[in-house]
Amino acid sequence: MADLITTSALTKRFHGLTAVQAVDFHVREGETTGVIGPNGSGKTTLFHLLSGFFPPTAGEIRFCGEPITALPPHRRVALGIARTFQLVSVFSSLTVWENAVLAVLRIQPEGAAPARFFLRSCRHPAVLERCAEALERVGLTAQASLPVAELSYGDKRMLEIGITLALRPRLLLLDEPLAGLSDHEIARVVKLIGEIRRQFTVVIIEHKISKILELVERLSVMNEGRLICEGSPAEVLSDPRVRECYWGKEAPAC
Ligand SMILES: Nc1ncnc2c1ncn2[C@@H]1O[C@H](COP(=O)(O)OP(=O)(O)OP(=O)(O)O)[C@@H](O)[C@H]1O
Ligand SMILES: [Mg+2]
Repeated sequence: MADLITTSALTKRFHGLTAVQAVDFHVREGETTGVIGPNGSGKTTLFHLLSGFFPPTAGEIRFCGEPITALPPHRRVALGIARTFQLVSVFSSLTVWENAVLAVLRIQPEGAAPARFFLRSCRHPAVLERCAEALERVGLTAQASLPVAELSYGDKRMLEIGITLALRPRLLLLDEPLAGLSDHEIARVVKLIGEIRRQFTVVIIEHKISKILELVERLSVMNEGRLICEGSPAEVLSDPRVRECYWGKEAPAC
């Protein structure tokens, strides 16, 4: 399988702190990769760099072999890179349906007069179909007209994932999709990821390692901004460097 996204010597410094340091990361098309590591090891910052949320201090990112390091986030979404956030990120005052429509409209071609373009596009059959399909996929069709503020946290997480599916991405970046969920909600989200991983290339940051072991083909481990180990889950979890980086902080939860 070819690499879908690669980074070379990717680095992000915040004033004196190096959050991501010379990271060479790659994700093969069709694979599901887990990114693990202690708190503050740079996992979310890596996603911010891949999705264009922050510019890197140094290094390069390529998607399908083409450099994307200088592209803004919406251009990366249009190329097929979609992400969710560590804290669920949806518009609480809008309805479930409006959230899905807004996300899809953001990736429509630029150039049209914004207001007229918006009014026309949000009734466009292709947009309606994408949104309806995505909400059905995450089990939120019946809640489509509800304000998001009325949803449970688990449903908000499902909506956030649904929105990324509506974008029909090639690469899906999920930042701690199980954080803050009850056991029942975790089971729902794990089942959903199990289904979508067959269709998209997925990268999952997660502390609850035992919950994602069945889902991932590869694990990448970050510690203090560096990528310290990569391989199959069995290889990685038995690697002394991985045990050492968790020692005294938290044991890998498996
Ligand atoms: N915007 C920022 N400004 C300054 N420092 C930051 C910023 N974002 C992250 N950091 C720092 O960069 C380091 C890496 O943070 P990051 O959020 O990437 O870690 P993480 O591996 O996702 O941690 P966690 O598992 O707790 O979510 C931390 O020391 C953090 O405090
Ligand atoms: Mg994080």
